[in-house]
Amino acid sequence: MTRYFAILPAIFIVAIASSSSHSSEAAPEYVVQDGQVDKATFNGYRRFHGTCHACHGQDALGGSFAPSLVESLKTMDYEAFKQTVLEGRQVTDASGAVNAMPSFGNDKNITKHLDDIYRYLAARSDGVLDPGRPPKLPKPK
Ligand code: HEC
Repeated sequence: MTRYFAILPAIFIVAIASSSSHSSEAAPEYVVQDGQVDKATFNGYRRFHGTCHACHGQDALGGSFAPSLVESLKTMDYEAFKQTVLEGRQVTDASGAVNAMPSFGNDKNITKHLDDIYRYLAARSDGVLDPGRPPKLPKPK
């Protein structure tokens, strides 16, 4: 009984520390004006269609291999998104078939651009960006 009470405060402190470090990391933001996107969001569009679209479909609408990320990001937060892409995920269904999201944690072409990919997908998921190659906003003068 006494041991239980001694351990409790330690657990409590760890929980506070980890929750505050999460909330301090804000999700990257996109800029979309009249269907035109900022440089970062455009980069995300390009990177998504360089790698992720093979499974997640053109315009992130989903494919026969993987779910629509336009749908996923309606409920998935930035932390969960990042963790899934960096670590991957393997799901085995009842019949033993494996459905796998690869881990991109060692792929610099993705890790360097993960925030931009998130920006693009968030804009698609929020319904502010149409399918297709988005025009870029004019460069600031
Ligand atoms: C080889 C195919 C493949 C590629 C390439 C791929 N994914 Fe996935 N991804 C999957 C599969 C399959 C799942 C679903 C796993 C499951 O059943 O939970 C998934 C799941 C996800 C999820 C979680 C969706 C959810 O609703 O839980 C995210 C986020 C995601 N992928 C992002 C990406 C991004 C970003 C890229 C490009 C860097 C990418 N994926 C490339 C196959 C792929």
